[in-house]
Order: sequence, then structure tokens, then C-alpha cells
Amino acid sequence: MPKKIIIAIDGFSSCGKSTLAKALAAKLAYVFIDTGAMYRAIALYFLRNHISFNDQVAIEKALQHIQLHFAYNSATGKSDMFLNGENVELLIREMKVSSKVSEVAAIGSVREFAVAQQQAMGAQKGIVMDGRDIGTVVFPNAELKIFVTADPAIRANRRFLELQATNPAITMEEVAENLQHRDLIDSTREHSPLRQAADALVLDNSHITREAQFELALNWAHERINLA
Ligand code: DC
Repeated sequence: MPKKIIIAIDGFSSCGKSTLAKALAAKLAYVFIDTGAMYRAIALYFLRNHISFNDQVAIEKALQHIQLHFAYNSATGKSDMFLNGENVELLIREMKVSSKVSEVAAIGSVREFAVAQQQAMGAQKGIVMDGRDIGTVVFPNAELKIFVTADPAIRANRRFLELQATNPAITMEEVAENLQHRDLIDSTREHSPLRQAADALVLDNSHITREAQFELALNWAHERINLA
């Protein structure tokens, strides 16, 4: 039996990290964990319960009432995010959440809460985890770290096409602005800002197909598994 490793995939919003992570996990029979979904579910809880993002006491209290788990959905072949037992997979992708999630993910106590759970999920290895700080903070010793990037205009266009399917009224400007806003907050925040780990392999997918990206990453994974 080959040894199992941890694959950390980081990068900006809408770079195709999840698509790559999901495909790698399926191929290697690893568990895929979308850490952005966790921050989104926490943001949804805060919005629903009118928790002020500046009120540390209210935030810490709210976190005690948040239970997150993923469960496999055989209809979609993906894992759905559950917040206190409710399937919130679709709700957390809505613009209402997207426009606030970076602010929530910048809160130190929220990150501590999420990171502890992420580390527990990876304790047995055999995971592909995507996010912003996986290779730098959550699993600094991950055997394979991939930093995914793509041209901002290409990212905005991809995200626009994705969102248009469920929200035909959405505009390209709205999507591009939201991406810019999130990139800025994610990379300049005080706690665990998005940055490339020194030992990460960079994958710029602006001009390569999904299949080519997958093959490249899979080769890297096999190399690291053989070394493990
Ligand atoms: O990957 P995503 O767009 O679903 O992430 C949602 C937000 O959460 C985004 O603003 C970045 C933040 N995030 C983070 O700070 N750390 C992670 N490990 C994953 C996501």
C-alpha cells in the first residue's frame, strides 16, 4: 500500500482550485476538503444571526453554537457543507455570502476555530485540502503544496459563467468587483493572509486546459507519494 500524503492547494478566489482538488481526490481515493465552504458557512450563520463582525464577544459566543460537517451527496458526487445539521451547500455560494465571507475569514477567532477542525480532518493524511493558508498555516508540513494562479480577467469570466447559471441577472462588473475585493482582503489581512508557501509548486492555469492541469498535478502527487 502506498503511503498517504497531504496535498495542500492554495490560491486566489475562482482559480479552479476546487475543481482540481476534487479531481485529484477522486483519482487518488483521498478525501477532498473545501475549506472555503467552512468560512462561507460561518459567514452565513453570522449574517442570519446579525453577529457584528467587530464584536469579539458575540463572535466567540456564536462560534460555540456552530457545528460544521461535510457529507457526501451521491446525486452530485460531491460533499455538501452542513451547518448545524442543515445542508447549506447552495446558500453559501450566493452573492449575499460571497460579498461578506472575506471579512469573516479575516477574524482571528474564526480562523482558529476553522483551522483546528481542518487539522483534525487531516490527521490520518489521504486528503486534498483547498484554501488560502493550507500550505502555510494548516499543514506547513504537507508533502505536496500547489499554489494555483490565473489571470484576473480569466478568473472573473469563469466565475461569471458559473454564477450566471443560477443567477441570470448577475453582471460581469459585479463578479469582477467581488473577486477584486476578496483578493485584496484575503491577501492583506492580518491573520494568515494568502501567500505562496516557499516550497509550493506554482500552477498558472490561465492558458491550459483542465485536463492538462490535472495531469500535471497528478504527476506531482505521484512523485510525492513515491517519496513518502
Ligand atoms: O475558496 P472560497 O472562495 O470559497 O473562499 C471563501 C472565502 O474564505 C474567501 O474570502 C477566502 C476565505 N478562505 C480563507 O481565508 N482561508 C481558507 N483556507 C479558505 C478560504
